[in-house]
Amino acid sequence: MKAIEIEGGRRLRGELTVHSAKNSVLPILAATILSGDTCVIQRCPRLEDVDVSGEILRHLGCRVQWQDEDLVVDSRGLSCWHIPDNLMRRMRSSVIFLGAILARCGAARLSYPGGCELGPRPIDLHLAALRRLGVRVDESCGVLTCRGQELRGAEIVLSLPSVGATENAMLAACGARGTTVITNAAREPEIVDLQRFLRKMGAEVRGAGTSTITVEGGRKLHGCRHRCIGDRIVASTYLCAAAAAGGDICLRGVDYRHLSTVITALQQAGCRVSSQDRRIRLVSDGNLRGICPVRTSPYPGFPTDAQAVLMAALLRSEGTTMFVENVFQSRYRHVSELVRMGADIRLEGRVAVVCGVPKLSGAAVRCTDLRGGAALVIAGLQARGTTRVEEIHHIKRGYSDLTGDLARLGADIREIEI
Ligand code: EPZ
Repeated sequence: MKAIEIEGGRRLRGELTVHSAKNSVLPILAATILSGDTCVIQRCPRLEDVDVSGEILRHLGCRVQWQDEDLVVDSRGLSCWHIPDNLMRRMRSSVIFLGAILARCGAARLSYPGGCELGPRPIDLHLAALRRLGVRVDESCGVLTCRGQELRGAEIVLSLPSVGATENAMLAACGARGTTVITNAAREPEIVDLQRFLRKMGAEVRGAGTSTITVEGGRKLHGCRHRCIGDRIVASTYLCAAAAAGGDICLRGVDYRHLSTVITALQQAGCRVSSQDRRIRLVSDGNLRGICPVRTSPYPGFPTDAQAVLMAALLRSEGTTMFVENVFQSRYRHVSELVRMGADIRLEGRVAVVCGVPKLSGAAVRCTDLRGGAALVIAGLQARGTTRVEEIHHIKRGYSDLTGDLARLGADIREIEI
């Protein structure tokens, strides 16, 4: 089994290009089904979740192959509308295939996506949106069977701006005759990227990035080529790493406006951050200070996915920082592992209070989830001695080469067999 070993104390210096956003690529891979043609996802990141999505597409009858850095999906041969349990369990966000399969096949069956490390992951908003489009949903014995031969456009109001529910509604609405209006839609940049992809396929979708998205469904779609936006959470991770370790790094390939709340937090902590277009530079002496309370919320608020990595960056800060996790029920599972390294973090429900300590000590720690794992690596970069991070399969779901990238920036970090 692999682990990541880090000798702390090195500063980071250099330049990196951030890979495409996992949370763009996944819904866009699902959307390729709508085309019944060949789609090319250019510069697609090599991630565990992308591999699972490819297996799902092949299971459904699509041809999926890598051509250098591009992932090519030919969905002409799609012949199945069922996602088996083993594939659903490997990636709970597989539920994003539901809307696309329904739009293409008029039916879909998948096992109920379980919860995950972040707590229960209900899909009630997804199902309510699909029912508005005329989908009949049967839930029994952990299996979800949806049928909708004649989807029709409708008014959909989401009770909260769920990213996945917005995406499923957009994809299913492409197969629904008439106009669909999604109100209280999620506004994440990845939703805008999905709309760009759908419009390249010939779909009439507009309003993404605002709370109201309109889809004129029932159009014949076709293949296209698309390069997704840069991953704002991966970029946030590297900025937090350099903030904590100290150094001077420059990131390319990501729109700084997509992570403006994270940049603001790091500037408050004492980093110098300059950004223009798709280039972000951070300079830090590694001595940070506590900042105003960090409250996670849907975009454009502070991203829940960056909570753990910012927390890790502030573990040795002068002063105290309060975090309030408003999006997921249990997104503090990394805290106990950070405390093993000497961090001083107090938890009370959705609130975590980080009191800066003078030093962290290397230790053997275990990843609990994707972003929590990245937080442990950031803690190891600034700890005295050796840190060994285990269960790193979590990290590989969302970072194509976290270890290699940090090593290229000067960190003393490597993957080892244990
Ligand atoms: C997406 O998850 C992302 N995943 C998550 O990134 C991200 O943390 C999340 O959006 C919030 O930004 C992908 O895009 C693949 P939600 P999603 O539906 O769509 C509740 C990462 O680290 N909810 O916006 O599942 C839900 O329980 C991952 O890359 C319902 O109650 O998030 C949560 O509390 C982790 N009913 C809140 O809404 C529903 O039907 C936000 O969930 C759906 C969601």
